[in-house]
Amino acid sequence: MNKKSVDISTKITGVELETCIFNASGPRDETLTDLENLAKSKSSAVMMKSCTLRARRGNPPPRYANLEFGSINSMGLPNLGYRAYIKFAKILKKIYSKPVVASISGMTLKDNVVIFKAFNDSPVDVIEFNPGSPNTIGKPIVGYDTQEMDRLLDSVSKVCKKPFGVKLPAYFDLVHFEQIADVIKKYPVKFVTCINSVGNGLAIDPYKEKPLIKPKGGLGGISGKYIKFTALANVRKFYELFNGKIQVIGVGGVYSGIDAFEFILAGASAVQIGTAFIQKGPKIFGKVQNELKDFMKQKGYKKLSDFQGKLKTL
Ligand code: DHB
Repeated sequence: MNKKSVDISTKITGVELETCIFNASGPRDETLTDLENLAKSKSSAVMMKSCTLRARRGNPPPRYANLEFGSINSMGLPNLGYRAYIKFAKILKKIYSKPVVASISGMTLKDNVVIFKAFNDSPVDVIEFNPGSPNTIGKPIVGYDTQEMDRLLDSVSKVCKKPFGVKLPAYFDLVHFEQIADVIKKYPVKFVTCINSVGNGLAIDPYKEKPLIKPKGGLGGISGKYIKFTALANVRKFYELFNGKIQVIGVGGVYSGIDAFEFILAGASAVQIGTAFIQKGPKIFGKVQNELKDFMKQKGYKKLSDFQGKLKTL
């Protein structure tokens, strides 16, 4: 069996992806140049930066730092405003054949409704609703407030005509998984993406006796290898709670094909790459895809459904 006979294609909300590996929203996806680079890379979709009603410059720098096993950031949602991403989606769909995913992060319920309505008339294939950046100063993480999540999903579900999913923060308590899953199940949410960066870590330079990033006294979202185990647990729990009715996309600390394999085994239908894309560049997509195919070949698996969600018990 050669590598070609290993199929790592997938479908998210019925949209076909040539492979299950694509970029996470956040890094290197803010400008049209960034997005064209993604379109030309082996990322199987072009995920765009989370957008707000108006363009934002974000938090003051330094606002991102690489760490030994990942990264810390408090970007503060720098983006060009939703109209730019509708324009970019039109350009991308005209030139390239890949699925394009919008990420919507309106600052208020009203903003989210306006943005969702506007994307109805865009060529984006899928929408990932990212209702709570951990880094916008003065705003709580929506995923930790079930009532607010309910209110937001109720409103956007009423206006959205595209297939959409929700990007979730990490949960650490089994009761919280059930509470948020119960809210999500009430709405036509097609997938959840687990997990966003783990909010409010603090990375310190011991020589300078200063934090590595400036906003919020140094507090920022932790990503990369530090969060892989939390991400896997979140994928697993939601996979179980949704019983195949809502798909799960995994993200958090994927650097290798075996990392991606673990996410799929836990139940993910696709896997996104964030920090490793910043650190390794676009070659990371092909590397993870090839390594995943190699590992599946070793195991005798020919397609994702041979092992997706089939984590064994001890
Ligand atoms: C930002 C960070 C996030 O983790 C997110 O989900 C949205 C925005 C940011 O700081 O730009």
